[in-house]
Amino acid sequence: MGIRKITEYPESVLGAVGKPVEEFDDELKKLCDDMFETMYDDEGVGLAAPQIGLSLRLFVMDCEGIKLVAANPEIVETSGEQSGPEGCLSLAKVPAVLERPEFARLKAQDLNGEWFEKEAEGYAARCFLHETDHCDGKLFIDHLPRMRREMVVKKFKKEKKLR
Ligand code: NI
Repeated sequence: MGIRKITEYPESVLGAVGKPVEEFDDELKKLCDDMFETMYDDEGVGLAAPQIGLSLRLFVMDCEGIKLVAANPEIVETSGEQSGPEGCLSLAKVPAVLERPEFARLKAQDLNGEWFEKEAEGYAARCFLHETDHCDGKLFIDHLPRMRREMVVKKFKKEKKLR
């Protein structure tokens, strides 16, 4: 299928908890190929299944040298703190400064269903957290105070009209 259409805020699938990935077959591999293609096309560093309209606990990422597929992701450890800009392809990459842990350990299954753990710091850790949130039906703006959340949504709507 190739490049998929990005689901944008406020589509309901973005707010739904994804279903677990259960089949580790060729169909899943093809889906992940499409997700990588879609992510690169939009110059993103991560993309979760709900962002292409599929309520599944699955994401792909390629960020600061960490390229992976994560099925059924969980954040099993975090520490420290970082503050920096974050954006989302489902909100036209409108950035907002958001505090996140500096370090995160991800536990997930790969394309063969094998469980693995991976550690990241800084921007890549932010990516683990952001994409895992998508699988839980959460957007980065859900972490922002109301005023700042509304600001991002306002800018996003303006951005959409310009496209
Ligand atoms: Ni996102």
